[in-house]
Amino acid sequence: MLSYRHGFHAGNHADVLKHLTLSLLLQSLLKKEKPFFFMDTHGGAGRYALNAEWAIKNREFESGIGRIWQRSSLPKGLSPYLDAVRTTNPSSQLRWYPGSPRIARHFLRPQDRMVLAELHPKESLELAREFEGDRQVKVEALDGYQSLKAHLPPKERRGLIHIDPAYEVKDERRRVLEALLDATRRWPTGIFAVWYPIQDGATRDEFLKRVEKLKIPKTMVVELMVRPEEAFRLNGSGMILINPPWQLDQELSLLLPILVDHLGEGGQGSSQLQWLHGELPAP
Ligand SMILES: C[S@@+](CC[C@H](N)C(=O)[O-])C[C@H]1O[C@@H](n2cnc3c(N)ncnc32)[C@H](O)[C@@H]1O
Repeated sequence: MLSYRHGFHAGNHADVLKHLTLSLLLQSLLKKEKPFFFMDTHGGAGRYALNAEWAIKNREFESGIGRIWQRSSLPKGLSPYLDAVRTTNPSSQLRWYPGSPRIARHFLRPQDRMVLAELHPKESLELAREFEGDRQVKVEALDGYQSLKAHLPPKERRGLIHIDPAYEVKDERRRVLEALLDATRRWPTGIFAVWYPIQDGATRDEFLKRVEKLKIPKTMVVELMVRPEEAFRLNGSGMILINPPWQLDQELSLLLPILVDHLGEGGQGSSQLQWLHGELPAP
């Protein structure tokens, strides 16, 4: 039974980390003319109205994207992401939040394509409507893990896979790790970005140990905490990145502390970047 709806959380601190990282990865793919492939295994609805009943219930976007989207004094590394948000909001009001499919669409050139899987019937319907008539986008109302197997390796031989489940089922972490191992075997040179929530440190540590045990080359992890551990809350989140482009670690090392400054609660936020496998370039 799928009950999670991303509309409650659209634009929160976890979305900011996730979509900033995705934007930087997508931008790196634009450096070559050759087409690239993007896939979201868990697409969500694509775009979220921030005046909708769900979004205004807890107004999570206000302590996330709301704090940075109009600031002009931020480092230019944030621009690819903020430009995607601003394009979705042409007026001075923050009316919409672009989900990962909309963010990715912002970077697609005519030669690129994307596939979006979404299992929830209502969300997948909204996603299909969002991209109706767009020949570069294929929406599949399917299980994202199954769909992923069917698309790898893509004919383009370059691109990015985003794995972003809701972690509402108990064994989701196991499914994510199995999917990641299988997908990186099918496509060792692809870029993979996997989002995970952080509520408590023990679960997070155990999860990262399991990621490390997969021994996938070039595995980097970035995390943003907006407060120290507090029970039953989403205190932060992380992204596992496989085959990140050269120097992304350096760029994120500069940008994460800026996010901590703006999104951390009462000076209590923190960030982390580490390589689980693969070499850190010299500082
Ligand atoms: C965190 S949300 C996705 C948000 C989206 N990636 C974004 O960044 O805007 C997770 C989504 O996965 C969907 N979902 C859950 N299980 C799924 C599955 N097995 N395959 C595909 N989608 C699934 C949920 O309905 C939900 O919309």
